[in-house]
Amino acid sequence: MADAEFLDRILTMEIGRCTEAAAVAASKMIGRGDKNGADHAAVEALRRAFDKLDVDGTVVIGEGERDEAPMLYIGEPVGTRKGPAVDIALDPLEGTDLTAKGMGNALAVVAMATKGTMLHAPDTYMDKIAVGPGYPEGVVDLDASVKDNITELARAKRVKPEDITLCVLDRERHQHIIEAARGVGARIMLIPDGDVAGVFHTTEPATGIDLYMGQGGAPEGVLAAAALRCVGGQMQGRLVFRNDDEKARAAKAGITDLNRKYALMDLCGGDVFFAATGVTNGTMLDGVKWEKDHVVMHTVVMRSKTGTIRYVRARTKRW
Ligand code: FBP
Repeated sequence: MADAEFLDRILTMEIGRCTEAAAVAASKMIGRGDKNGADHAAVEALRRAFDKLDVDGTVVIGEGERDEAPMLYIGEPVGTRKGPAVDIALDPLEGTDLTAKGMGNALAVVAMATKGTMLHAPDTYMDKIAVGPGYPEGVVDLDASVKDNITELARAKRVKPEDITLCVLDRERHQHIIEAARGVGARIMLIPDGDVAGVFHTTEPATGIDLYMGQGGAPEGVLAAAALRCVGGQMQGRLVFRNDDEKARAAKAGITDLNRKYALMDLCGGDVFFAATGVTNGTMLDGVKWEKDHVVMHTVVMRSKTGTIRYVRARTKRW
């Protein structure tokens, strides 16, 4: 086996170790009503775990700009610097509020891709649309109406629009999507938070979710795209700016076309590794379980080159 391939295989598992560390740290804060404390615990643990990762990494999607985040800030070099040069996108705790309130589907997430291939998404919102694998290219489109997207997807799936389930973040700003979807008879699954999981759910028939739509964080959009690159599926996104400060953030990230519609490959185009570990119990991943002498973690690790999706249930001594 070539050295590079051998390294890839090792790294796939290693980034899973990183998300495990973040998830375990965050899990100690489940249900304590302290979302910042939970986030902080996950950030510190992930930062420490990266010190053992044999990559020459640069954080592209991180905890904020250098002056806003003490650790895992955008542009921070991470890893031992002994391995390949890579872009790193991370969300040590995706679902800070879910964790604080003891609700489901909080995750620790890391994606890693060939250097220069991930969108440097600013910390703004992004309009997103995503479907899982197996549909003709362009079956849904960010610029099409909710009705047309659901109708086309139903046609491609050979079901009726009322058999389509759309996942949407439960926000006032999505009322028009919800009404239009119900207008054609589709089902809506509202989620309180966590749209990386929301997008990912479209890839697994067991979740019952066919389509994801709505506005969430742009950084989360890149992480979700990284996951879809490994599993298959389609996604489009467009940045949403609420003020000049957000536009300035985009300019700083090198974005000149503020109205650009990003396709999946624009969001994350290179060879990608993706890992997520459940913090709280979720639809596709169990949360961290603390047993008397052990801690049990549930992680998915994937890479785009081979399309391998590996669910790992790890049990280790409490630490
Ligand atoms: P945090 O874990 O950082 O709190 O993000 C949770 C989340 O629900 C994301 O999944 C989503 O993209 C974003 O917040 C939506 O933002 P808002 O809560 O402002 O609607």
